[in-house]
Amino acid sequence: MGKRQIMISFVLIAALVLLGVSVSSGHNNSGANFECMGCHLGGSGDVTIKIEGMPKVYTPGKLYKLSLILDSKMKSDLEVQGGFGLQTDAGSFVVLDKKNTQIGDNNMLTHTKEGSEFRKWKFGWKAPAKEGDVNINVMAVAANGDFSPAGDEVGVNAFSIKSK
Ligand code: HEC
Repeated sequence: MGKRQIMISFVLIAALVLLGVSVSSGHNNSGANFECMGCHLGGSGDVTIKIEGMPKVYTPGKLYKLSLILDSKMKSDLEVQGGFGLQTDAGSFVVLDKKNTQIGDNNMLTHTKEGSEFRKWKFGWKAPAKEGDVNINVMAVAANGDFSPAGDEVGVNAFSIKSK
């Protein structure tokens, strides 16, 4: 290996190491998995989770534009405010705000790194083509901004919608 190749491999390895570090330390780029409370705990106080625009009865195949609102008194030391995970047992989530939301593992809709600076997120839900009851489950974390899962508040909610 020449000097130049050694230099190139060194730069490549350094880049990989940096990449690895930033991915593992930047979990505010999404919910690690749906069970937020498996890791996040310690906050006292209540978290309320609402979904604005959610129909009680859906029309099959229709796209609904919704907003998830996380309400908590938790104050954050940093710009990180919170995050969420949403799961549906029928139909599918549609990303309407690419900067702040994304679809992660197991089709869970979750926040992005930019999206962790909010406690309100816009998203779409496309109703299934066939009729039947649907359950949408949500978990959300109101962060205290300490880059750790400790002291954050976790809220859970479930919504059940019927078809026409
Ligand atoms: C396997 C454990 C684990 C699970 C599950 C998990 N988290 Fe985290 N979370 C962490 C750790 C560790 C940190 C701190 C390090 C970091 O930010 O990368 C963190 C940080 C965060 C932060 C920034 C907190 C702060 O105060 O700075 C948010 C927001 C967040 N998680 C949201 C969520 C949401 C929403 C879920 C569920 C959908 C979730 N997490 C599930 C381990 C977890």
